[in-house]
Formats: sequence, structure tokens, C-alpha cells
Amino acid sequence: AVDRALRPQQLDEYIGQEAVRDKLALFVTASRQRGESLDHVLLFGPPGLGKTTLSHIIAQEMGVNLRQTSGPVLEKPKDLAAILTSLERHDVLFIDEIHRLSPIVEEILYPALEDFRLDIMIGEGPAARSIQLDLQPFTLVGATTRAGMLSNPLRDRFGIVERLEFYSAAELSRIVQRSGRLLNVPMDEAGAMEIAQRARGTPRIANRLLRRVRDFAQVRADGHINAEVARAALDLVGVSPLGFDAMDRRLMEAIVHRFDGGPVGLDNLAAAIGEVPDTIEDVIEPYLIQQGYLQRTPRGRVLTSHGLLALGLPLG
Ligand code: ADE
Repeated sequence: AVDRALRPQQLDEYIGQEAVRDKLALFVTASRQRGESLDHVLLFGPPGLGKTTLSHIIAQEMGVNLRQTSGPVLEKPKDLAAILTSLERHDVLFIDEIHRLSPIVEEILYPALEDFRLDIMIGEGPAARSIQLDLQPFTLVGATTRAGMLSNPLRDRFGIVERLEFYSAAELSRIVQRSGRLLNVPMDEAGAMEIAQRARGTPRIANRLLRRVRDFAQVRADGHINAEVARAALDLVGVSPLGFDAMDRRLMEAIVHRFDGGPVGLDNLAAAIGEVPDTIEDVIEPYLIQQGYLQRTPRGRVLTSHGLLALGLPLG
């Protein structure tokens, strides 16, 4: 709920992901000119990079309603059928965690995506029959942390497939400054940059850190966020200067101290740090890999020399 206040509403307020933004702007304009629904869109990438925000913006730019649900919530075909039949012309349906759709729900999604048609079974036993309903043309925006977890037939039905990347510190700094203006927190550029550099390339984390730094500035300083205040606040909440949080450190330290730097298999690593393998793969690892601290090899996870240095440990 607090996140929503800071979310950009339109593409031209959106900072970063420039290539994705430019393409979406083009495809939205083209489909609006033709008076058609936008082709189905698959957004993938680590959590917190803007998949939900972009789906809202797409609906806004198309001038249509947005309906929002998620893979695990759609348990039965009738759950999805209820939503599909209530869509208005060209509406956007956002399905978060689309890789977690059940196979029977996925099955009725195919003709809906392809021909805007719903095939459903009514009744049971000998009286069962299938009926077909025409749907309004709509746009599915699917979001997932890993595109590789979608079935091929589902992935093939998206005309637009975009991967969201981690943000640069400069982009995150602009996002933090924009959020600061919306929250009415006085902040200088160095303060914003300090927060940006410790946000793991992720706007959701940057905005969360901004709120904590604001608390600190209000109680322990004069309310202004500068570099010194930001540094003290972020040290207090346990975010290291390189942006590692407690889980990042735990994972990297476990590889060094319990597995001799690796390689270590995902399941062994998960057991060692008391985390589920999915969270390690989807949430913790992508940033560490992108920054070159960690490698995924065929034999398991390995901490790089860069990772050792970042932890302040001697090489070799
Ligand atoms: N808030 C969160 N993500 C954002 C983005 N990409 N641009 C602007 N504000 C944001």
C-alpha cells in the first residue's frame, strides 16, 4: 500500500529500463492507432524491478482498466473464467507469478489468448458438455521471476517478451530523489546517491531504505537527508556499504566458511543457511551474480575473488 504512492503512473515518469520503455511506448502507440488491443506481454526478472508498475502503466497508456491477479490465486478454471468474462474491450489482465498457474487453468488460458475464446465444461458425468464463449479482446500482462519456468506453449503466446534489468546507481538516485519529493523529505544529491548505492539495483529496496533513512533523519538529525545521515542510518539498519543485506552476507559467508568457497549445490546451500532454494535463486542470487560476486557453475555455486574481497576476506 505504501509502495503505491511512489509508483509512476505514466511511461514518461518512469525512470530506467530505457529499452523496455521505448519499445512499450512504440507498441502501445501502434495498437492504439489501429484500434486494437495490445499484444500479450511477458515481463520477467528479479522482484522489485517494476513488473507490476509497468503493467499499471500499460493499462493507463492504453486508456483501459487493469485487472490484477496471480498464478497461485487462480486455483480453478472457473476462477479465471470469472475474470475473463468480466473484462471490457482491450482491458489489461495482469497475472503475477504466472509460472505458478495450475495446468488446468493454463489450459483454458490458451484459446483465450489466441482467439479471445473461452472453452469450458459445464456439468459432470454423462450430462457434461463444453460450451464456448466469445471474450472481449484483451491484453494479458504476465510477470515472472524466471521465464524459464513457463511452459513452452504459454511462453509462445506472448508477442512481447521483455526482461527487466537491475538499475544503475545513477537511475536509483533519480528514483530516490523523485520519491523524496513525493514524501516531502528534504534531501541532497549525495544523500540520494548513498541510498541508491546500497539498494541492490532495485527500486523497491531503494524506496524502502529511503523510508528508514527518513525516520533516522527525523529523530536523530534535523530531518534533512545528506550523505552522512544516510550512511549512519543505513549502517544502523544493517545494509553494508556495498548494499549487502543480512541474507546476502549469510549466503556468501556460508559458501566460504562451510563449503570452502564452493562449488556447492543449491540444496546444500539452502539447508546451510535455512532458506528455501527458490528464494535463493529468485531473490538473493541474481544481484550477487550480476555484480560478479557469485557464479553458477554446472557443479554448483562458487564465490569469486571479487566476492571474497567484498566480504573483506583474504584471497586464496
Ligand atoms: N518508483 C519505483 N520504480 C520507479 C521507476 N522505475 N521510475 C520512477 N519511480 C519509480
